[in-house]
Amino acid sequence: MKTSIILAAGQGTRMKSERPKVLHPICGRPMLGWVVQAALDTGARDAVVVVGCGREQVEAYLRDAFGDRVRTALQQHQNGTGHAVSCALPALADDAEEVLIVYGDTPLVLATDLAALSETLVGHQLGMLTTSVSDPTGYGRIIRQSGAVVAVREHRDCDNAQRLINEINPGMYAARASFLKQALATLEPDNDQGQLYLTDVVAMAAQQGGVGDCVAAAETLVGVNDRAQLATAEDVMYQRIADGWRRRGATIRSSALIDAQVQIGREARIEHGVVLRGTTTVGDRAVIDVGCVLDDVRIDDEAYLKPYSVCSQSHVGPRAQVGPFSHLRPDSRLDEAAKVGNFVETKKTRLRKGAKANHLAYLGDGDIGEAANVGAGTIFCNYDGFNKHKTVLGDGAFIGSDSQIVAPVTIGEGAYVATGTTVTKDVPADALAIARTKQENKEGYASRLKARLARHKSTAAKGDG
Ligand code: UD1
Ligand code: CA
Repeated sequence: MKTSIILAAGQGTRMKSERPKVLHPICGRPMLGWVVQAALDTGARDAVVVVGCGREQVEAYLRDAFGDRVRTALQQHQNGTGHAVSCALPALADDAEEVLIVYGDTPLVLATDLAALSETLVGHQLGMLTTSVSDPTGYGRIIRQSGAVVAVREHRDCDNAQRLINEINPGMYAARASFLKQALATLEPDNDQGQLYLTDVVAMAAQQGGVGDCVAAAETLVGVNDRAQLATAEDVMYQRIADGWRRRGATIRSSALIDAQVQIGREARIEHGVVLRGTTTVGDRAVIDVGCVLDDVRIDDEAYLKPYSVCSQSHVGPRAQVGPFSHLRPDSRLDEAAKVGNFVETKKTRLRKGAKANHLAYLGDGDIGEAANVGAGTIFCNYDGFNKHKTVLGDGAFIGSDSQIVAPVTIGEGAYVATGTTVTKDVPADALAIARTKQENKEGYASRLKARLARHKSTAAKGDG
């Protein structure tokens, strides 16, 4: 049986962060999540994650994301990678024969890399991946003799000649469980940091019949120790995610950023500068135009989000339209073909089929009936400073521009609210509500008024002199 151990107990001092390093996200998913998933995708039955710094947070994340397939083992003091693996041994299943070991800070690792790693174990006690990088600073160097791997030496323990080696240890190993137990028991802290290094088992395996090795692409094996490396890794991951959706038939512009969990339909188009986060899903043939930012939003087939719309925890129905410059706040819902136009903000509001609010409005705690029309400048006054109240518009209701609807209020089916009305009580179906002062016209008054104002101005100017 194949199992895996993932090391994630370190604080990650170089991140300069309160958050444990392995929980820093790459495309919306903690680094550790990518590594655990790659191990499970390679056929490891389960994973033991070694935790220490920020243990509660790391465990909570793992439970939530992987449930039963992942167990944790505690490393109380971070006494090195070899010590960390020792801490995981008691948690290994009795029937574990092959153990995949991966560091939790190598988020770009692919399941195909780990499959190649398993192959290296054939005929050996230990197999490992290696790769060559132009700047090997900080990595353990691969020491070879007559072509065979004989040891790994940490950067800080290398002499000047060894520092020139640019073949490095990415920190991914496959080991026979029996060998691993025996080798770890003999580790000594004879290095610059005085820790128990997992890398020392490489020399032991070399003496016991050799180390299997496989050279893999550097890009997928990089370790993340600081936020600069985190950003570089995230760029690579965004590229991978976008290419994945392109291959499945979506158009994704080069500067769109799509998080790990997002789903995108066929023939959908995601324009430049769009950011899709969390559990967002985009339906077939939907268009998300330039600069939109979506968090946990469901977009149905053929919906159209015009540029620079910002939406969270909302649902945009089929063929509905949003934007440009709209703001859908949590619990907004547009049914089929509903429309929300520029500078409209919605919160906890549903626009039923074909309903429209095309310009400049605030719609909070509303239920807007089918084909109802909300005019420019309308405000649902839903909050009295203490409680939120609901506004209900019947099907086909019409709200004239610049109206204030003081909730709680119900406006009946087909009712008509005249422009500039402040609605404070319910409007029956088919009624007209109008509440504004009557207009008065004074004939010939304009020229007289202007002359008077001009006189005032010149008297004032003389006074100033
Ligand atoms: C390690 C390797 C180095 C390799 C590099 C690849 C050792 C001694 N060195 O160095 O050869 O080139 O990774 O990225 O193995 N961890 C624990 N407990 C500990 C120490 C570390 O769980 O006591 C975990 C960390 O959380 C991290 C991983 O092990 O996820 C690697 O530790 P880190 O300190 O980053 O090792 P490097 O110095 O990068
Ligand atoms: Ca590291």
